Amino acid sequence: MLDAPTVEPAKAMEPATAALIRLRRTRPEDGAAIWSLREAVGTLDPNSAYLYLLLADRFRDTCAVAEDASGGLVAFLTGFVPPRQPDTYFVWQIGVHTRARGLGLAGRLLDHVVDRLPAVRFLEATVSPSNTASSALFRAFARRREAKLVVSAGYPADRFPAVEPPHEAEPLYRIGPFEPSPTSSPTENTSTS
Ligand SMILES: CC(C)(COP(=O)(O)OP(=O)(O)OC[C@H]1O[C@@H](n2cnc3c(N)ncnc32)[C@H](O)[C@@H]1OP(=O)(O)O)[C@@H](O)C(=O)NCCC(=O)NCCS
Repeated sequence: MLDAPTVEPAKAMEPATAALIRLRRTRPEDGAAIWSLREAVGTLDPNSAYLYLLLADRFRDTCAVAEDASGGLVAFLTGFVPPRQPDTYFVWQIGVHTRARGLGLAGRLLDHVVDRLPAVRFLEATVSPSNTASSALFRAFARRREAKLVVSAGYPADRFPAVEPPHEAEPLYRIGPFEPSPTSSPTENTSTS
């Protein structure tokens, strides 16, 4: 049986360690660790542990994690292909541990999942206006794919419950169409690039 991954403690990541980070599909064992990592990442909306287990298991083809040489999770990406939009990958949450930011890991995770979905020509995500890092991430993806990025209303703030603090609006970023990467393969990709 595979050991359940843990979340890496907060200590600065050496470049040599970063080079050993491996990306892979999620497995059911990752659900609890992603739930913990979400908390360590901050910013992201909290969700139930069951939801992360469900995504790690039932949506493993459209979710991914990044683990370091010791098997600790340092980043995750969850998303799905909406049944009504089989050509679109919708990113739900992406989070990188603070000690592993700025190393291109989030961009690699997006490429890693999109490259295993040969029918996908568009990427969608909602990005709250205050999240400049998230906006930069998706704009960089659009540039890499040489694809158009269109921003529309998405989910306005009044779609969320009227609680304090209020939920920010979530404008929709739609990127595409793009061509599948030359390395696109529906088989498992465990490379670090
Ligand atoms: C957003 C997040 C996932 C980016 O992770 P990352 O691994 O540091 O991002 P990358 O290194 O792959 O950078 C991707 C691009 O975004 C840019 N970027 C990353 N962080 C940035 C920041 N704080 N401000 C401005 N630009 C930023 C990078 O320069 C890069 O653009 P470039 O290719 O033009 O240079 C990370 O900051 C995070 O986990 N934030 C908290 C959770 C969150 O808000 N998730 C997104 C919403 S679901």
